[in-house]
Amino acid sequence: EKGGYDHFMLKEIYEQPSVIKDTYRGRLHANKGIIQMAGVEDNLEKFTNARRILIVACGTSWHAGLVAEYIIEEFARISVEVEYASEFRYRNPIINSDDVVIAISQSGETADTLAAIKLAKEKGAFVFGVCNVVGSSISRETHAGAYTHAGPEIGVASTKAFTTQITVLTMIALRLAKAKGTMSNSDYQRYLLELELIPEKVEEALLSNDVAKTIAGIYKGAPNCLYLGRGYNFPVALEGALKLKEISYIHAEGYPAAEMKHGPIALIDEHMPVVVIAPKQNHYDKVVSNIQEIKARSGKIIAVVTKGDTQVRALADHVIEVPDTSEALTPLLTTIPLQLLSYHIAVMRECNVDQPRNLAKSVTVE
Ligand code: M6R
Repeated sequence: EKGGYDHFMLKEIYEQPSVIKDTYRGRLHANKGIIQMAGVEDNLEKFTNARRILIVACGTSWHAGLVAEYIIEEFARISVEVEYASEFRYRNPIINSDDVVIAISQSGETADTLAAIKLAKEKGAFVFGVCNVVGSSISRETHAGAYTHAGPEIGVASTKAFTTQITVLTMIALRLAKAKGTMSNSDYQRYLLELELIPEKVEEALLSNDVAKTIAGIYKGAPNCLYLGRGYNFPVALEGALKLKEISYIHAEGYPAAEMKHGPIALIDEHMPVVVIAPKQNHYDKVVSNIQEIKARSGKIIAVVTKGDTQVRALADHVIEVPDTSEALTPLLTTIPLQLLSYHIAVMRECNVDQPRNLAKSVTVE
């Protein structure tokens, strides 16, 4: 049932090229310049007239929501707010009838997310679900939605759900950009073609497995780890840190790289591994100077870079390469080596990778 892999998590990491394809199949027609998702088409005006989009989710799904915030605001120029469902539901939030709420949940059963949806509906908002489990409570409770088609995710640590959620949300952003005329035709077309190439690029990113394993062997005993990223890759830093803490029990923190100097830099010494997500587009020069600041304090740098990178390679202790793509799509690739790194560290620490202590696959209690 694990398809020859030692753990479900590893199997699910390796499924990503094919499930991302399943997610966009029948929806993305790059050569015709079309994105078609029934749940969006049927409610297109609600989206295009939305004064803002509120995203509610928990855990990894919340991280996918943060990536979507950057993408939707950039592409469709609609204001987006992302909230932990647990905070949203208990703070008497302001919800208007011209707000669109997007709830993201792999299981479709997360209690806090479900409660946030009910609250948003009571206040008159249109609620759209992005779920993986077909027929789940959240998919039934929402007005419309789009499934991720990732197939069953068994490992408690979410992997393929995350990348397929980002795929769905990117398609929504592109569809809205087209409807609102907020993106040039050439950019729109370029993004569609790039999105179609993502599965083969994820396949290539998976070739980082051996490097990730070597790096895991070096840092498996670290008590702490920092993850830094900027822009579209700031949420990837959060996700990388969550993956490491939940399966390896190493304390890890994700930060926007520029926040380093506002506190966390005090933690840096020769024992602190710092994972820096540094693809060539995203504020590259700024990330390079963040790396220099860490090196000046003897921190150890593990950098995720674009294939062929030389500048970061010269500074970092270790580099992991991913293929080049359009800036907004980089999270789909930079996430892959971070999943592999956490996986190998957890295996080396003899942790229960698929069922980490204290965790359940779906959190149906608040
Ligand atoms: O099923 P959901 O997407 O609603 O679950 C949300 C979180 O419980 C989930 O992402 C959790 O954080 C994962 N264990 C992360 O790997």
